[in-house]
Amino acid sequence: MANKVIVHEKLIYVFDSVDDLIEMVVREWYQKANTALEERDRFDIALSGGRTPIPVLQKLVADNLEFDWSRTHVFQVDERFVPIDHADSNYKMLNEHLISRVNIPQDNVHRIKTESADAQLAAHEYAQQLNNHFDYELPRFDLVILGMGPDGHTASLFNVDELIANDEVLVQVTANSKAQHERITLALSVLNNARDIFFLATGTDKSGVLKKVLQDRNMQLPAAHIVPRDGQLVYFLDKDAAEKL
Ligand code: 6PG
Repeated sequence: MANKVIVHEKLIYVFDSVDDLIEMVVREWYQKANTALEERDRFDIALSGGRTPIPVLQKLVADNLEFDWSRTHVFQVDERFVPIDHADSNYKMLNEHLISRVNIPQDNVHRIKTESADAQLAAHEYAQQLNNHFDYELPRFDLVILGMGPDGHTASLFNVDELIANDEVLVQVTANSKAQHERITLALSVLNNARDIFFLATGTDKSGVLKKVLQDRNMQLPAAHIVPRDGQLVYFLDKDAAEKL
């Protein structure tokens, strides 16, 4: 069961349970995928790391819906600059809970290559993958799934002064005292160029930051800068995360 709430023109679904939230996210993902395939014969999705997406990926795999993975391309929103078998690797999480469990062609999986000599080279290589896939236009994902840290970061954008809003920069290297590893992340201009953005947040530890972002519109928080240029942003919150709204 979900309550639909509008706060400062932002569409927010608040769910009594995380299971209900997951159910709707999977259904909406499936719908967006099929629309993209019908309209453009391709579905391009960018997935975040962290723990929130895990039950969504598990449900998507368990439901075994008729996804056409042959025309689906999975990209990463961001990555920690660690080997792909490192416990903190976002790719490790995505591979464990989704990629290794669906019949997606290897060429359709676009990984941030942390085996590169340094983070800048990994970022450059990933930008090249984006340019090749999106024909050197500003990448426009059909769906981007984001999470939000209690400090207001999203993707691996931790500080507003590192947000580069120009279209030339597609991928950035960021570092943050609270983040153990160097990060490689899609830049804000790419995230905001998506057709659809799902912002997922659950748990009381996100309630404070969600109030700051959604109610107070605190622009000192990177998550508050997620505003699709020409697309739709929907927040999927459980009641604990939404308790301060
Ligand atoms: C990462 C993510 C990050 C995440 C938030 C929320 O690399 O950690 O991309 O932006 O979405 O930190 O993380 P949780 O989902 O674990 O709360």
